[in-house]
Amino acid sequence: MKAHKYLFLASFIAIFSVASAADIDALMEDCNGCHGDNGVSQWGDVPTIAGIDAFGTADALFMFREEERPCSESEYRQGDTSRVATTMCAVAADLSDDDIEALGDAYAELEFVAAVQDFDAALAEAGAAIHEQRCDKCHSEGGSNVEDEASILSGQWMAYLENSFADYLSGDRDQDKKMKEKLTALSADDISALLHFYASQQ
Ligand code: HEC
Ligand code: HEC
Repeated sequence: MKAHKYLFLASFIAIFSVASAADIDALMEDCNGCHGDNGVSQWGDVPTIAGIDAFGTADALFMFREEERPCSESEYRQGDTSRVATTMCAVAADLSDDDIEALGDAYAELEFVAAVQDFDAALAEAGAAIHEQRCDKCHSEGGSNVEDEASILSGQWMAYLENSFADYLSGDRDQDKKMKEKLTALSADDISALLHFYASQQ
């Protein structure tokens, strides 16, 4: 009798965990409709999310869910493109805390692939010096070190990062206090140089 009870419990748990694993795949398939196969974006306004640290991705999703970070309406780029356009805030609103943690872990396991994009070499050189002086403390190795838990800047899409700068500077996106001091001290030319520097790392 007792043995049966455990057997029943064990199979229940097995079915349950298979179901939740399938869920994560289904969730990621939806994400990848905009973020690209394996989270590597082919579109300048959509960030690559593969390989970003688990904390950073989860934190971004929590912020979107609380609408503490601006989210723009976006069309699906691949797969079933008849799905209605949506926003990151609406996407995150449907996620549980567990979904968010699981998505952070899952994308952290995938490989970041730098975007192939045009850049100006002279601006990139100027940007490298500004980065080294003002940003590398928190965004080390040119903004590529995931251990900093400060996202990935090097090789991210320029148009997306340009929007990130604008959201920080307008105050629409909350940020680290110390980063704010550094960002507000930048001129428009400095920002442009930094964007070309990040884009140059391919
Ligand atoms: C309809 C398109 C779309 C879908 C679906 C979508 N995203 Fe996004 N995502 C975007 C866009 C566009 C941005 C850039 C911010 C903005 O413009 O709102 C973004 C930004 C993000 C960011 C911020 C990255 C950073 O470095 O700060 C994360 C993390 C993210 N998405 C994860 C996900 C996950 C996980 C899913 C699936 C549960 C998902 N997204 C589904 C379009 C989408
Ligand atoms: C005191 C640490 C610190 C400094 C200094 C700093 N940052 Fe950051 N930065 C962070 C952290 C942490 C994040 C992660 C996301 C967040 O908190 O919004 C981040 C995120 C970003 C993002 C958003 C990336 C995305 O995916 O949307 C950009 C762009 C950025 N930083 C640029 C810079 C630049 C340029 C400088 C130098 C002028 C700089 N940061 C200096 C800590 C810092």
